[in-house]
Amino acid sequence: MSQLSITHRASIDPMAPYVPGRPVEDVKKEFGLTQVIKLASNENPLGCSLKAKEAAVTSLEESNLYPDGSCAKLRNLLAESLSVKPTELVFGCGADEVIAMAGKVFISPGDECITGAVTFSQYAASAASMGGVMVYAPLKNHTYDLDAILERVTDKTKIIFLANPNNPTGSAFNAGAQEAFLEKVPPRVLVVIDEAYAEFVTDPHYPRTLPMLQKYKNLMLIKTFSKVYGLASYRVGYGIADESIIALFEKIRPPFNVSAQAQAAAYAAYQDQDFVRASFRVNEQSLAFTCRALEEMGLRYTPSQANFIWMDCGKDSRVVFLDLMKKGYIIRPGYALAPGSGETYLRVTMGTLEQMEGFIGALKEALGNRFSESKGIHKL
Ligand SMILES: Cc1ncc(COP(=O)(O)O)c(C=O)c1O
Repeated sequence: MSQLSITHRASIDPMAPYVPGRPVEDVKKEFGLTQVIKLASNENPLGCSLKAKEAAVTSLEESNLYPDGSCAKLRNLLAESLSVKPTELVFGCGADEVIAMAGKVFISPGDECITGAVTFSQYAASAASMGGVMVYAPLKNHTYDLDAILERVTDKTKIIFLANPNNPTGSAFNAGAQEAFLEKVPPRVLVVIDEAYAEFVTDPHYPRTLPMLQKYKNLMLIKTFSKVYGLASYRVGYGIADESIIALFEKIRPPFNVSAQAQAAAYAAYQDQDFVRASFRVNEQSLAFTCRALEEMGLRYTPSQANFIWMDCGKDSRVVFLDLMKKGYIIRPGYALAPGSGETYLRVTMGTLEQMEGFIGALKEALGNRFSESKGIHKL
């Protein structure tokens, strides 16, 4: 076979393929397990709304037809519910695609983006894929340091990406901090606030970003159906911003980027707020149980506003990750999510209460019998 002689864009050289959480079937096979619980990708342990499932199945009848490229039904439902214009919304194949589109719209080689170290990997991918440079501001107490981000704004800065709550730390900044930050960002810089986990937040001071879009025309809010709505496999996310920004996104959006089944499922899921409330309650309960258990074990964790927790297990996360997997629990090891600073950390998605009870048992075993026998005083 001849060698590939097509030259690629050098700007993608520093990029690495995204490494997702390991699939359950793979782990079952490798370790000879009959039951494996995946707490690795911040998915919804309740599944999704029954109404969403039914709507998706019904839409299979029209599998021979292209989907509605503009997502009109879903667009109008969201526009009405959020009190925005339909032209202030752009839909993506997951929030991932909206994040990627931001890079395609705004980044030229050499342009800079800023985010926190550590955060969701796709912001860096969005910048790097277009030849942009990601500038990282260190986190403070596992939370974005918004002042440190502002200090890094230069003439080359085009986009600031913020996940609120942040992934993998689960921390969130409050409304006052967000407003003060937006006041100081130059209007020529796009601020992308990614609220993928907003529906799980319990902090009463969490920002209400939607009304801020009126005041800050350089602001984009990103949301997803993958988390509280439990539709991760369908891939539906959306951005809300001034219509002049959305018009640019529409130029580069692939024409049929959200499947008909995904649109139908998202449309039904959005109207099933009982399911959303049930998911919130389960998460709140599982998070409270897990935090208590970690405290009893003397393990440090970052208080979470999301559906996962960032915990310091005090041991090499490579080893603990493997040990937990052998016991049937897939989590995300910190060495992979936060190379250097997160070597002893684990990011664990909240499952049902029963799943979390099982997980804590497995974690105690993985960390050694000092936890299973003592009343849980962690002596490091
Ligand atoms: C902060 C954040 N934004 C966006 C996404 C991607 O969401 P989607 O499934 O809609 O692409 C994730 C997924 O884990 C995430 O953690």
